Amino acid sequence: MFSSYLDVVLLFHPVLALLTIQHPKMHINHSNLQYFVISFFSILALRYAGSSYFLVPAEAPTGVCMTKDQPNPIAALYPGNCTGTLNGTVAVVPIALELARQLIPPQYGILEHAYRSLLPSFPKGMYPAIVQALHDHEVQAFGYKIEDFTRTGVEFPFVDMLNDNHTSFKWAPSLLMTSGHDIALKGAKDYGTEVFASTFDPGCDAYRSVKSNKPGTTYFSAKSIAPSEASLSTLFSSTDHEVFPLEFFKNFTNQPTFADGKTCDHMTRLFNTSVTTSHGIEPVKGTIRVKLPPFVGEVEFKDVYGLRLDSAFIENNYLPCETFRGYSGNE
Ligand SMILES: *[C@@H]1O[C@H](CO)[C@@H](O)[C@H](O)[C@H]1NC(C)=O
Ligand SMILES: *[C@@H]1O[C@H](CO)[C@@H](O)[C@H](O)[C@H]1NC(C)=O
Ligand SMILES: *[C@@H]1O[C@H](CO)[C@@H](O)[C@H](O)[C@H]1NC(C)=O
Ligand SMILES: *[C@@H]1O[C@H](CO)[C@@H](O)[C@H](O)[C@H]1NC(C)=O
Ligand SMILES: *[C@@H]1O[C@H](CO)[C@@H](O)[C@H](O)[C@H]1NC(C)=O
Ligand SMILES: *[C@@H]1O[C@H](CO)[C@@H](O)[C@H](O)[C@H]1NC(C)=O
Repeated sequence: MFSSYLDVVLLFHPVLALLTIQHPKMHINHSNLQYFVISFFSILALRYAGSSYFLVPAEAPTGVCMTKDQPNPIAALYPGNCTGTLNGTVAVVPIALELARQLIPPQYGILEHAYRSLLPSFPKGMYPAIVQALHDHEVQAFGYKIEDFTRTGVEFPFVDMLNDNHTSFKWAPSLLMTSGHDIALKGAKDYGTEVFASTFDPGCDAYRSVKSNKPGTTYFSAKSIAPSEASLSTLFSSTDHEVFPLEFFKNFTNQPTFADGKTCDHMTRLFNTSVTTSHGIEPVKGTIRVKLPPFVGEVEFKDVYGLRLDSAFIENNYLPCETFRGYSGNE
């Protein structure tokens, strides 16, 4: 059964996309093609190596921790697409624009006018980095599910990767991700992301409640497997203070994402399905500790504002970034 899932992965692979889809804006570059072909054959090798990476439909082995996440509400709506849910916390971390300029590769501009048009009162000389701590649940395509996993990292939205001074991309250079989940780890590495196989607390949920004198306090932490020493932890409490509008979160979470710039990931987050509306969207305030490239050493961000929510998503993988020239998220 598990090999059927790899067949699905192969089916989605860009080599086949190149053969089957002819997008007018798609300029295929030789070295990218070479890269796709290598990646295709490495998945093919995995397919025939036949180790069992997967849980195929629903039932989890006994003894494995059970998530509290509600089921994927859109799997049946988009049976031929990769869908899932993302439960967790998304926070905006203001950093000095000067620091952002040092961290983001110099060939890419920063679209300051784009984030300022969404956040007119964002402090001068600052840039909104993003921290996401998310549990991926019931990720599937064609009825085949992969095991749940968790990931977290710092992302840099409003990056002008096409140098058109217009289209916003999100640069996601590094991730902490569930160790042992070879498909998710490989999936992220194929974008050129620096991926740290990690253990999480809680193990199979987005966060857990902790005792505190502040209401609605939750904890989340990720630690890479030795010998690497990456980590990220969050402690958030409920707040009445909604500093950044939901529209801002919708905007950057839906930007096409890249790491080394060879291909782009397009994840459309839906904020209007039952998983979001049933629990609502909770504004939170708290502290994040990060030890993860491109930051040097451990950094702590206090009084960070964000949202705790679940959302459904549709993901289109390994797309040529050029496809998104002029994209604004509403086409
Ligand atoms: C999101 O995760 C939290 C923590 O595990 C859980 O309490 C909540 O029910 C989840 N939300 C949904 C909609 O599944
Ligand atoms: C579903 O996948 C197809 C084929 O890859 C793609 O053209 C389409 O845009 C996807 N649908 C959504 C809603 O992303
Ligand atoms: C980029 O676009 C913004 C908004 O349209 C404009 O103010 C700015 O001057 C442009 N920058 C460059 C380098 O063209
Ligand atoms: C093709 O893409 C690679 C990697 O994205 C880049 O280094 C190279 O310059 C590109 N070549 C052309 C001819 O565009
Ligand atoms: C939910 O939002 C998506 C895009 O954000 C939109 O395409 C869809 O029509 C919306 N669905 C409902 C039921 O409002
Ligand atoms: C996101 O923000 C940019 C910059 O203001 C804007 O051009 C774009 O249309 C927005 N996209 C969505 C989906 O709101």
